[in-house]
Amino acid sequence: MEITRIGVVGAGTMGHGIVLVSAMSGFEVIMRDVSDDLVQRGVGMIERFLKRSCEKGKLTDREKTETLERIHGTVRLEDMQECDIVIEAVVENLDLKKDIFTQLDGICPRDSILASNTSTIPITEMAAFSGRPDRFIGMHFMNPVPVMKLVEVIRGLATSDETTETVVALAKKLGKVPIEINDYPGFVSNRILMPMINEGIYCLMEGVATKEAIDEVMKLGMNHPMGPLELADLIGLDTCLYIMQVLYEGFSDSKYRPCPLLKKMVSAGYLGRKSGRGFYEYNDK
Ligand SMILES: NC(=O)c1ccc[n+]([C@@H]2O[C@H](COP(=O)([O-])OP(=O)(O)OC[C@H]3O[C@@H](n4cnc5c(N)ncnc54)[C@H](O)[C@@H]3O)[C@@H](O)[C@H]2O)c1
Repeated sequence: MEITRIGVVGAGTMGHGIVLVSAMSGFEVIMRDVSDDLVQRGVGMIERFLKRSCEKGKLTDREKTETLERIHGTVRLEDMQECDIVIEAVVENLDLKKDIFTQLDGICPRDSILASNTSTIPITEMAAFSGRPDRFIGMHFMNPVPVMKLVEVIRGLATSDETTETVVALAKKLGKVPIEINDYPGFVSNRILMPMINEGIYCLMEGVATKEAIDEVMKLGMNHPMGPLELADLIGLDTCLYIMQVLYEGFSDSKYRPCPLLKKMVSAGYLGRKSGRGFYEYNDK
């Protein structure tokens, strides 16, 4: 199936990034959020990225103008009706996502594909509400979307080979490296990353080492660009806790139990960089 027009629902951190790489790759893109202000905020973030790319000599003014011309902002979900694929990137809330996919099924052509950028919600469960489980798939982009190469392509139980092939080909056209994954809690990225971070927090809680020492061990010994505690602060401790709970419940396995120190810090409002304090303090907030 040939994709020419892409719909993106949600113009936040991930949504605007997906719109940006899609438009830069030559696709017509419809970007939907719930208010004009939020649509404009998404367009503003895209414009700033393109402006910086021009200043760095990576893009010409003409390419910037053409990219922006391919982006059509809207508050109407009905405007997705001519899209070959719609990628959902709204907040991580199952009920909201189910509602959007139920509506999209009534709006989009029968042969179009519905995709979700969820980090944690089972693809198979959302597919059941899409009215087209064979044409439903996960497209898990990484943050920041224009920089990170990986897209986890997540097959639900009923996702067809044709849908997977189309989405893999699309991800490549967006300049990404798609990797096929089957639908299990945390997919691959968060199933491996989050228990590592959680174990780092256990090391701190048990007094195995200081926070600085834990981070340095993983940076110097394993060549990780950031230590697990610094990374937890960047991701947000509330998000880390939420993902651990998804793994814990999804597998019913105690090895995924969230560290009590992580829970305590979230209860205290120490959420990492975004709150100015996590394992480290951030004075710029
Ligand atoms: N932020 C990350 O690092 C990251 C990485 C990978 C995947 N994800 C996933 O991507 C999704 C979006 O996350 P985000 O960080 O971009 O969130 P965000 O809060 O930055 O953006 C979400 C956007 O969705 C909009 N929205 C809410 N309801 C809507 C509706 N009915 N229709 C259209 N738009 C609506 C909000 O107004 C907001 O602009 C989540 O499922 C998240 O798990 C996030």
